Amino acid sequence: MLPKRRRMRARSPGCADAFCSPSSALFPGVAIYLAEPRMGRSRRAFLTRLALSKGFRVLDTYRCAVPRTRCSAGARCASSEVTHVVMEQTSAEVAACWQEQAAAPPLGCPRPALLDISWFTESMAAGQPVPVENRHCLEVAEPRKEPSTPAVLMPAYACQRSTPLVHHNSSLSEALETLAEAAGFEGSEGRLLSFRRSASVLRALPWPVTVLSQLQGLPHFGEHSSNIVQELLERGVCEEVERVRSSERYQTMKLFTQIFGVGVKTADRWYRQGLRTLDELREQPQRLTRQQWAGLQHHHDLCTPVGRLDAKALQQLVEAAVGRALPGATVTLTGGFRRGKLQGHDVDFLITHPEEGREAGLLPSVMCQLQSQGLVLYHQHQRSHLGDPGHLAQQSHTMDAFERSLCILRLLQPSGAAWKAVRVDLVVAPWSQFPFALLGWTGSKLFERELRRFSRKEKGLCLNSHGLFHPEQKTCFHVASEEDIFTHLGLAYLPPEQRNA
Ligand code: UTP
Ligand code: MN
Repeated sequence: MLPKRRRMRARSPGCADAFCSPSSALFPGVAIYLAEPRMGRSRRAFLTRLALSKGFRVLDTYRCAVPRTRCSAGARCASSEVTHVVMEQTSAEVAACWQEQAAAPPLGCPRPALLDISWFTESMAAGQPVPVENRHCLEVAEPRKEPSTPAVLMPAYACQRSTPLVHHNSSLSEALETLAEAAGFEGSEGRLLSFRRSASVLRALPWPVTVLSQLQGLPHFGEHSSNIVQELLERGVCEEVERVRSSERYQTMKLFTQIFGVGVKTADRWYRQGLRTLDELREQPQRLTRQQWAGLQHHHDLCTPVGRLDAKALQQLVEAAVGRALPGATVTLTGGFRRGKLQGHDVDFLITHPEEGREAGLLPSVMCQLQSQGLVLYHQHQRSHLGDPGHLAQQSHTMDAFERSLCILRLLQPSGAAWKAVRVDLVVAPWSQFPFALLGWTGSKLFERELRRFSRKEKGLCLNSHGLFHPEQKTCFHVASEEDIFTHLGLAYLPPEQRNA
C-alpha cells in the first residue's frame, strides 16, 4: 500500500474516479462505492447525488486507482480507498461473486465491508455514517446442500423485491390468482390475501419452479398454496382450480363484477336473488345505478382490453382538453400502463399543476372540453375532499380524497369510422402530494397494499396517496419524487416496471 499522500498524487489529473475529493468530504474515513449490477444508472446517479449532498464521499470505480506500475498488487487489486461497498437487492452469494470478479484485494489488504442498502439509507437519514451492524452486512452464506434449489433472497414484503411483468411462473401464479379471486367472491379477505401473496412471490422468482422443494424458505407459502403448486407440477392441472373455474358461482360472480360500478357485494346479492346473465340485468333497469346502466350499455367494449396505442391516443385527447382548461397543467399516464403493461381494463391519468392550488376544481371544465367534442359517453364527478377535516391520514388503501372523474370516453379507432368505449379515470392531485398520488395510482394493487403494510408495521408510519405521516405527531414528510418516498421508508427504489406484484 502506498502512503496516503502518494496515493492522492497518483490519482490526480486524468483519474476522474472520485466524485468528491477526500478533503472536501465531511467524513474522510468513509468512501462509498455503489456497486449494483441491478441498480441502473439513474438510480445510482440519484443515490450518488443524495450522498454527495450530505457530505459523503462517493467513488465512481472500485478498482485500484493507483497506476499499475506503481502498485505492488498489480492491476486487479481492490481500491484501497473504498471503505463501504453498498449493494441493493443482492444476495450474499451474488455479492461475494461480484467482489471476486470486480477485484480481489491483495493479501493483507482489508476487504471493504459489503453492505446492504439499509446502511446507506439509514446513514442518509442520520446525516452521517451510522455504525455498521450485523444486519447491514451481506454475509457470505454457507454453500447450499441442495443443488437443485438456486439460492434466492426473497423478502417478505412485495415492496422489498422486484416483480417484473414477464416472469417464469405464469401458469402457477394464474392458478393461485384464480383461487384468490374466488376467495374474494366469498368475502374471505384472509384467504384472498394469502393466495395473492404466494402468487406474487412466484412472479418475483428469477427462475421457473419445477420441483416442490424449490418453495422451501419462500415467504407466504402455506400448506394450501404449496399443495396447489405440487398438484400442478405433478399432474399439470389442479382439481380445486378447475372446479372453481367451471363453477356457476365463480363464472357468474366474475361476469357481474366485471360490470363498471359492480362490486362483490352487489354481485353476490344479485346471485342470491337468482340472477345469472347480463340480459336478466338489462331487463330490470330499476335495480341498476346510473353507473351500472352505462356499464351494461357499453359492456362489450369495456370487456375488450385497452391497448397501449389506445392509451396514448387518449392521453393526447386528455392533454389537449386539460391544456385548454388550465395552461401549464400536466397529465401523467399511471396504473398498469405505467408499469409497462401492454393492455389494461381502463386508462388512469393523474393531473397536476406546478402552482399549488391552481388545480382545484379543474375537472368540470376539462369534462366540458371533452363533451363539446362529443367524446363523453358517461361521466361522474367526485369533488375533492382534501379540505375535509382530518381526512389526510385516514384514507384507506382504496379510497383517496382527490377530485376525480370516472368516465367512459368514445375513442375513434384508426381503422375507420368505428369507435369504441373506454373506461378512463381522471384524478387531480395538488403538486405537493403528486409523488404520493403517482406512487399510489401506479399500483399494482397488491404492491400498494404491501407498501402501506410495510410502512405501518416496519416503520410505524402511515402511507397513502396523500402523504407519509407520523401517526402521533401528525406530521407529513415533504418529498419531491417517488424516489424520496422509498428513501424515507428505507427501501431500495423500484421503478414502475418492477412493481407488478
Ligand atoms: P386499476 O384498478 O386501474 O388497476 O388501478 P391497473 O393496475 O391499472 O390494472 P388494469 O390494467 O387497469 O386492470 C390502478 C391503481 O390505482 C389505484 C389502485 O390501487 C391501483 O394501484 N387506485 C385505483 C386508487 O388508488 N384508488 C381508486 O379509487 C382506484
Ligand atoms: Mn388501470
